[in-house]
Amino acid sequence: MKGQDIMLPSLREKEDSVAVLDNDIMEKLKIVMMQSQQFQEMMMMYKCAIREVRTKAEVLNDEMSVRYHRNPISSISSRVKKPESIAQKLYNKGLPFTVEAIMTNLSDVAGVRIICEFIDDIYSIAAMLAMQDDLKLIKIKDYIKYPKPNGYRSYHMIVEIPVFFSKGKTPMRVEIQIRTMAMDFWASLDHELKYKKNIDPQDEEVIAGELLTCAERIAETDTIMQQIRMKLDAVEKSKQKTEIVIEE
Ligand code: GTP
Ligand code: MG
Repeated sequence: MKGQDIMLPSLREKEDSVAVLDNDIMEKLKIVMMQSQQFQEMMMMYKCAIREVRTKAEVLNDEMSVRYHRNPISSISSRVKKPESIAQKLYNKGLPFTVEAIMTNLSDVAGVRIICEFIDDIYSIAAMLAMQDDLKLIKIKDYIKYPKPNGYRSYHMIVEIPVFFSKGKTPMRVEIQIRTMAMDFWASLDHELKYKKNIDPQDEEVIAGELLTCAERIAETDTIMQQIRMKLDAVEKSKQKTEIVIEE
């Protein structure tokens, strides 16, 4: 996929840049992208970047599980953006359909989602990742401290990570989303609402309101669970101190 080979002039002339790409054009675009060697290579590179980030998260989880006898991370999932979503995003931004445009302008082609048990774990994992000197922090969006109006909560980081290939290293961007299980549960339901076509606008409004209530209750529950966690940790610490004193 060199230069303009996936450039569709007819598309770029459209005035309404946020229009959804026509299904037929999208299908053709997807085929062209999938057949392009350069595009395939780029997708492989993003997959490798994902692997690097996953490993970093797994290492931190392993270390903390030995040190503190619990896993701050419950699960990790990842994905590379679908070609049709890449095409749609390029189109929305008025960018050419080239590998160069993707690599320089899109930050979420590679995505890693880290699910934590407690809110404090989110911030610990985020800080430990940000501290690593091979990882460059590009952007942070803290939707936990500053939730979206619809109730969405999650901690987002865009990072750049060097991946070593045969010809040297390439810095690759990865979007990391860190959230609690409860926040994740909420986001998946909210996501479903966003992509439901043919939903009655009135029903949509009612559901959006209900989702906002759920998000607030979830945030409250996450906070209480965190407080319980801290109390249990304090009990454990004072027990360890007593044991040391007795041994002395
Ligand atoms: P995108 O162009 O959609 O990637 O958004 P952005 O560049 O403004 O970044 P942002 O950090 O706001 O969102 C990135 C990603 O977070 C999205 O692609 C979703 O996966 C997730 N996200 C953001 N807002 C919401 C939301 O309201 N609901 C849900 N379910 N997910 C969201
Ligand atoms: Mg995105």
